[in-house]
Amino acid sequence: MKALVKAKAEPGLWLMDVPEPEAGPGEVLIKVLRTGICGTDLHIREYDGWARQAVRTPLVLGHEFVGEVVEVAPDVAAAGTVAPGDLVSGEGHLVCGTCRNCRAGRRHLCRSTVGLGVVRDGAFAEYVSLPASNVWVHKTKLDLDVAAIFDPFGNAVHTALSFPLVNEDVLITGAGPIGIMAAAVARHAGARNVVITDVSPYRLELAEKVGVSLALDVRGSKTAIEDGQRRLGMREGFDVGLEMSGRPEALRGMLANMTHGGSIAMLGLPSEEFSIDFARLVTSMITLKGIYGREMFETWYAMSVLLEGGLDLSPVITGRYSYRDFDTAFDDAAGGRCGKVILDWTA
Ligand SMILES: NC(=O)c1ccc[n+]([C@@H]2O[C@H](COP(=O)([O-])OP(=O)(O)OC[C@H]3O[C@@H](n4cnc5c(N)ncnc54)[C@H](O)[C@@H]3O)[C@@H](O)[C@H]2O)c1
Ligand SMILES: [Zn+2]
Ligand SMILES: [Zn+2]
Repeated sequence: MKALVKAKAEPGLWLMDVPEPEAGPGEVLIKVLRTGICGTDLHIREYDGWARQAVRTPLVLGHEFVGEVVEVAPDVAAAGTVAPGDLVSGEGHLVCGTCRNCRAGRRHLCRSTVGLGVVRDGAFAEYVSLPASNVWVHKTKLDLDVAAIFDPFGNAVHTALSFPLVNEDVLITGAGPIGIMAAAVARHAGARNVVITDVSPYRLELAEKVGVSLALDVRGSKTAIEDGQRRLGMREGFDVGLEMSGRPEALRGMLANMTHGGSIAMLGLPSEEFSIDFARLVTSMITLKGIYGREMFETWYAMSVLLEGGLDLSPVITGRYSYRDFDTAFDDAAGGRCGKVILDWTA
């Protein structure tokens, strides 16, 4: 089968013929239909410092996908939870099942997660195998491009629903695909004001399409968020913050604009350590919560229900390519003038 492989320990990706994976005990084999390109995949193509220590070659990339189940192991067939013909996406964090958190059902807090497309061969291929316990069956009809990005959509939902949003004023820093999806979720979930910031006019324009109250360009301005509050008639700061840029200055700006007792959920992954005004955090009694991955499978349930309830993610998908044009697609995704970029494995 065709697969996108990190074949050598150097920058680049290679479209190659590799053996089809097999559905081992407890596993299913999935024919991949569409996949989403993620920041992680860009790091692996570029082969930066993180990728050098995280990836062993050869590796098939990819963890954001939708596909059709073509085969299930006998024990999976007996359990009857997933069957050939099912349309599925997959949770890309494979958990150990034996640590304290796994045994307590808090699988998203497993201390020995294995990443699909980072450690185990991934979904940028015509077929991928996955434990049946990692599979999410789509029970209602939905757009295949949207189904392909359930993984990052899950990051957005997990973060956005970390704290109650109804009637609250929400600040989102970073209008990347995940920040924009979080804005759509916050709107849908009943937030009062949803303000998003970025340094890219293209992305701020994209964010406006999901109905934010304000999309603020914070380039070269220390007071943009404060000015935004004033324009909206806000007086006491934001109740909920969703950090989705991984940038120190974004978290600092957020902290300065929170109400006392406010809550921040932080998904953005900083590339290095940095300082913040901890005195402000302490004296304003702000809660800061780190967010990783998706809750298995409560977040997945919420995602399906949000879409059934009419949440529209279509504005966030801006690029569609055949897998054969992967290099152009990756350049598009790396260029930043984009939302989510999709690879079609059937075209
Ligand atoms: N914790 C997790 O499980 C997890 C999972 C996926 C992604 N992430 C992280 O979440 C973040 C969002 O993911 P994404 O795919 O949307 O990333 P992205 O890189 O596409 O988006 C980040 C956005 O932040 C903007 N930005 C840069 N400086 C800013 C500033 N000072 N203020 C506001 N915005 C600024 C960028 O222009 C960009 O649009 C990234 O940091 C990513 O690494 C974490
Ligand atoms: Zn991803
Ligand atoms: Zn575990």
